[in-house]
Amino acid sequence: AVKVRESFTGRKAFIITAIGSAVGLGNIWRFPYITYENGGGAFLIPYLVALLTAGIPILFFDYAIGHKFRGSPPLAFKRLHPATEFIGWFQVGVCFLISIYYAAIIAWACSYTWFSFTQAWGDDAEGFFFGEYLQYDGGGTEGAGLSVDFVAQVGWPLIAVWVVLLICLAAGVRKGIAMVSMLGIPVLVIMFVILVIYSLTLEGASMGLNALFTPDWAALGDPQVWIAAYGQIFFTLSVGFGIMITYASYLKRRSNTTGSGLVVGFANSSFELLAGIGVFAALGFLAFAAGTAVDEVASSGLGLAFVAFPTIISEAPLSALVGVLFFGSLVLAGFTSQISILEVVIASVKDKTGWSRPLTVAIVGGASALISIVLLGGVSGLTILDVVDAFSNNVGIVGGALLAAVVLSWVVRKLPVLTEGLNGYSSFKVGPIWRALIAVVIPLVLGSLLVQDIMTKIEEGYGGYDQWVVSSFGWGAIGLVILIAVIASLARWPRRSALTMEDPDL
Ligand code: PHE
Ligand code: NA
Repeated sequence: AVKVRESFTGRKAFIITAIGSAVGLGNIWRFPYITYENGGGAFLIPYLVALLTAGIPILFFDYAIGHKFRGSPPLAFKRLHPATEFIGWFQVGVCFLISIYYAAIIAWACSYTWFSFTQAWGDDAEGFFFGEYLQYDGGGTEGAGLSVDFVAQVGWPLIAVWVVLLICLAAGVRKGIAMVSMLGIPVLVIMFVILVIYSLTLEGASMGLNALFTPDWAALGDPQVWIAAYGQIFFTLSVGFGIMITYASYLKRRSNTTGSGLVVGFANSSFELLAGIGVFAALGFLAFAAGTAVDEVASSGLGLAFVAFPTIISEAPLSALVGVLFFGSLVLAGFTSQISILEVVIASVKDKTGWSRPLTVAIVGGASALISIVLLGGVSGLTILDVVDAFSNNVGIVGGALLAAVVLSWVVRKLPVLTEGLNGYSSFKVGPIWRALIAVVIPLVLGSLLVQDIMTKIEEGYGGYDQWVVSSFGWGAIGLVILIAVIASLARWPRRSALTMEDPDL
């Protein structure tokens, strides 16, 4: 039988959707702080080096696999070499883990968009977030067990987020996935630019910018700073865990893949820089208002978004508007990334089973939603989020990318085929330098990142949580991914699967 694979309407749709995946919470709350912590202005050098030697080359690598072999990670790897299907499922497993907790952050940001109108957090943003809002019970520390007791004000927005997500995914590549980014990304950019301009007008903004950008050149001699740069680049570009493979599989045969990759990489880094400026201008204001130094108020992740920013919002002029712009940006940036993670899981199961999209979304998406709502909608959700995140991001993403680069370069030796695929219709040609980066530089960098991270986690555990929590939700999650990957890659491809269908565009 012949089966026409879903596709993007054109190059513009692909680029915007890929930007939707890349631009996420990592740009807004990770980049500014990582830069600040690792040498300020001087960090831009390792950052650029990492972008050019690892980020863009792996982005091309993912595009090449998905575009040439036209499939979700398991299908594309299977076609590339039957023995590598496992790598695809490993990446799917990592996406599954991330999708479970990423949805919760979007749900919180939705709640906070609403809270911005009344500044529900009052004058204790920290107490409000952990206590009143999350009802966090400290589960998993000091002998306390984990509990899934439902927290209504967290759980209901989470359910709503999942419903909208699954509807968008069921609508398909063009009418759902691409549409969300085509509508959401322009709105995000406009909202965020307004927010940044506004932040720059606040008193103390220049103090924040000085704190962020004043270069500490000595940092360049510190290996940790370089590791941080490579880690940020992997996370921020959404490379190495199947997302770009999946999106590239929806490209038409004659596509300028490398040209699009450069646009996506440039757009993502620009957004990151913009976020750095906006976030630190606002933190400068906060420090100024509190009469302290910027390092007293600077923080990353949840602390920045749900503690520092609410405080800024309360103290700044036009509070409600700023709150809606900031939390609305988090929702949009997060939602378009979450769609991309889930689509990897959906597309992979769909390709292998031959089920229709709506059926796959109902079964796989429904199961993910249920797990997410039970685990993250309860009083111990924060512990689970923190531990799963630490393992899926470092061990999972880095491990998956390392596996793919090493096996394809050295075991099944497919870089020549991928080079041809990339150069077929592209404006920017790749050659020996690209192959050397994938085969040598990237394995070395990723290998050292991974070894170092695993050693630290073995020696020190993680985040002060009880050992059983780290074992079950951290190492256990990685074990689960490996188990899923083994079982799924051993399973037979049924006759109606995408593998056995003739693809006219392949
Ligand atoms: N690229 C995203 C970001 O910068 C990271 C991400 C994408 C994480 C998709 C998870 C899923 O935030
Ligand atoms: Na990003």
